[in-house]
Order: sequence, then C-alpha cells, then structure tokens
Amino acid sequence: MTNAARLRRYYRLHARIYDHTRWAFLFGRHGLPSALPHDLRPRRVLEVGCGTGAVLAGLARAFPQARLEGLDLSEEMLQVAQRRLAPLGDRVRLRQHRFGDPDPAQAPPDLVVFSYALSMFGPEASAAIRHAASLLPSQGCVAVVDFHDTPVPWFARWMEVNHVRMQAHLLPELRRSFHPTTDRVHRAYLGLWRWLTWVGRPAPQAVRNRCTWDSSSRAADSSSVLAERNA
Ligand SMILES: C[S@@+](CC[C@H](N)C(=O)[O-])C[C@H]1O[C@@H](n2cnc3c(N)ncnc32)[C@H](O)[C@@H]1O
Repeated sequence: MTNAARLRRYYRLHARIYDHTRWAFLFGRHGLPSALPHDLRPRRVLEVGCGTGAVLAGLARAFPQARLEGLDLSEEMLQVAQRRLAPLGDRVRLRQHRFGDPDPAQAPPDLVVFSYALSMFGPEASAAIRHAASLLPSQGCVAVVDFHDTPVPWFARWMEVNHVRMQAHLLPELRRSFHPTTDRVHRAYLGLWRWLTWVGRPAPQAVRNRCTWDSSSRAADSSSVLAERNA
C-alpha cells in the first residue's frame, strides 16, 4: 500500500476525532500568521494538507483580501473543513488532491503553508518542499509548522505508527530551497519532542527550477482530482 493510501485510510477514522484531540500536541498552528513577514499581503494562499481547515480559517482572518485554497488527500478531513469554512463562501476552494501530482487546476499561490503535513510525506518530503518553491514567485513565501525531532526512540516509533516522521529531515531541505525569515525550533513537554516554525522566501535557484518533482517515482500512486468543492 502506498503512503497516500495509508494516510487516506488513517484519516477516514481520525477525521471524526481530529479537532478534539490534536490541540494537545500540534503546537504553533494558530500562531503561524504572526510568524509571517509583516509586509506580506498574499492574494492567493495555498495550504497543502489542510485537513479540517482550522489553519485556513486563521489565515482567512489574517489576510481578509486573500483567496484561499486547501488541498488534502482525505475526503473525510475535507468534509469537516468544508463545514468549518462554508461561511467564507467562494473565497475558499477545497480540493482532494495529492500535492505534486499533475495539477492543471492549481492557481499560482504567493503563500504556501504546510501545517503538520510535511512530516507525513515520508521520503517525498524533500520533493514536496522543492515543488512548493517552484510554484512561488520570487517575492512569495512558504510557512511551515511541524514536528522536528525527538530524543526518545519509543516515541519516534509510536509516531511512525501514526505515519509521522520525526527525524530532523525537514530543515535541511527547507534551508536549501528557501531563505529563512523565521527559523525556530521549540521544545514540547520538557523536550519529549521538538517542533519547528519556519518561514522563508524562495532561493533564486528554486525559482528557476520550475519543475522539480520526480514524477516517475510517483506514477504508481497518481490520483487525479477526485472532487472539487467551493466551500
Ligand atoms: C496532521 S494533518 C494536518 C492538518 C492541518 N494542516 C492542521 O494543521 O490541522 C496532515 C494532513 O495532511 C494531509 N496530507 C498528507 N500527505 C499529503 C499529500 N501528499 N497531499 C495532500 N495532503 C496530504 C493528510 O491527509 C492530513 O489531512
């Protein structure tokens, strides 16, 4: 079974309890807009792995002029997001889509947000970061909040059971593809794990390489756009 198929199955069950449980360990999500450059006025915001839409709701408040788009693998998570974001009308578009798959419907964003999504991408996290850089204009911005690492082996194994990789693997690729404006690592629960807040502008090389995704490694798990919703 592919990583995407495993995640879809996982969130089929977890979508119902997601918002009631994740507040206790997905730290930093709601503070993400305040970590962005003060002069940033995005017109199009893309959240990759938007889940139940809590982060998109905060971004909509922070950037009232922006149109927002959320992509996610999981239909069940998107259903929750759709209910939450319905009051925003056609300012928000939600789509079931695997990030990096061919996507003619993708409008070019000027802010790409990953909130606790990249740590679930498995070995494709680096390609996803490079792909985000290739979508952005030179004055665009990427914002990431996610798990970083843990010194506790049993905890790392438990998180892997939950499809989360915590091996300090995100920062090196973020630093290669973007120039940071915010680069912070925080401790959770006395150091049981660390999580990061990371904001950056595309590095010039990343802007030049418009197509950096290795499509051959993804062909076996290619999913077309299954649903498009105007919430
Ligand atoms: C931990 S949840 C985070 C949800 C939301 N961003 C938040 O902060 O509450 C991770 C989400 O990323 C989605 N996801 C993981 N890999 C993805 C991919 N390759 N393309 C699109 N969505 C993905 C999952 O389906 C899941 O809903």
